[in-house]
Amino acid sequence: MPAEIIDGKRIAQDMQQELRPQIEALTARGVTPGLAVVLVGDNPASQVYVRMKGRACEEAGIYSEQINLPADTREHELLGVIDRLNTDPKIHGMLVQLPLPEQINEMRVLHRVNPSKDVDGFHPENVGKAAMGDPTAFRPATPYGVQQMLVRSGVETSGAHAVIVGRSNIVGRPMASLLTQKGEGGNATVTVCHSRTRNIGEVTRLGDILIVAMGKPEFIRGDMVREGAVVIDVGVNRVDDKRAKQGYRLVGDVAFDEVAQVASAITPVPGGVGPMTITMLLYNTVQAARQWAA
Ligand SMILES: NC(=O)c1ccc[n+]([C@@H]2O[C@H](COP(=O)([O-])OP(=O)(O)OC[C@H]3O[C@@H](n4cnc5c(N)ncnc54)[C@H](OP(=O)(O)O)[C@@H]3O)[C@@H](O)[C@H]2O)c1
Repeated sequence: MPAEIIDGKRIAQDMQQELRPQIEALTARGVTPGLAVVLVGDNPASQVYVRMKGRACEEAGIYSEQINLPADTREHELLGVIDRLNTDPKIHGMLVQLPLPEQINEMRVLHRVNPSKDVDGFHPENVGKAAMGDPTAFRPATPYGVQQMLVRSGVETSGAHAVIVGRSNIVGRPMASLLTQKGEGGNATVTVCHSRTRNIGEVTRLGDILIVAMGKPEFIRGDMVREGAVVIDVGVNRVDDKRAKQGYRLVGDVAFDEVAQVASAITPVPGGVGPMTITMLLYNTVQAARQWAA
């Protein structure tokens, strides 16, 4: 039987509605949550993501600022912008859109963001706090969104074997950390795969829940998935398609049609994890404003 589709767009819309009263209550107290997004260069995918984040803020009643810097920006100039935002009282959350041009050291930039404004959750202080289950930590938006999606779709994580493909600092690794926490959306037994994993199909087939974040178009085929598994596809890849208006279409890391015949539930691309990522960024910004106002 074909899998149920987990509709990330709908879950994200529901969650944004739930956030509204919190934003209104903060605004009524004179604290309009504020997000700054810094974009360096003109990477087309980054430009799209930044635009989407700004639009989502506007719709939610969150103040937002977009700071565009040229591709040849020097590291100290970017650090100067971060320092300014760190002390700007209108801004409760900020993020620097990745990837950065090669002349800029990503680690130094991520470390410079004030941890209390680090709504991407990439500063080591938040990484550490999140790993320890501290609720004041900002959890990285994509894995946080995946966790919320599982909870709100009624997928039991407790006691389940979750296999994650990908060990990046922004998706795979924090995903493992969240799923192993005690509490709702946690208590899973987690395996993390990466490019050195041997016989990867044998490992992915063990997952009651399979979360894929590789950046490899349609890598996961039907025979790599356990019958009845829940499959979450984080990947977003552009593949050439002459029939498409822009000359390309977006596909995930999972071969959707094949895997949907094996899985019990699956997320589409687009319309799965993407909208959840943006929603959790809004949640983190509101959390930052609440913590600032407390
Ligand atoms: N929807 C969203 O909101 C959202 C958010 C973030 C990212 N994404 C998408 O998610 C995907 C992953 O992003 P990322 O930033 O985590 O990517 P990344 O930093 O490039 O990491 C990719 C991971 O996949 C692993 N990998 C690559 N090829 C593999 C293979 N053949 N077998 C097993 N593992 C393999 C890599 O292993 P090694 O560590 O060994 O190299 C690495 O750990 C991308 O398509 C990205 O666009 C989507």
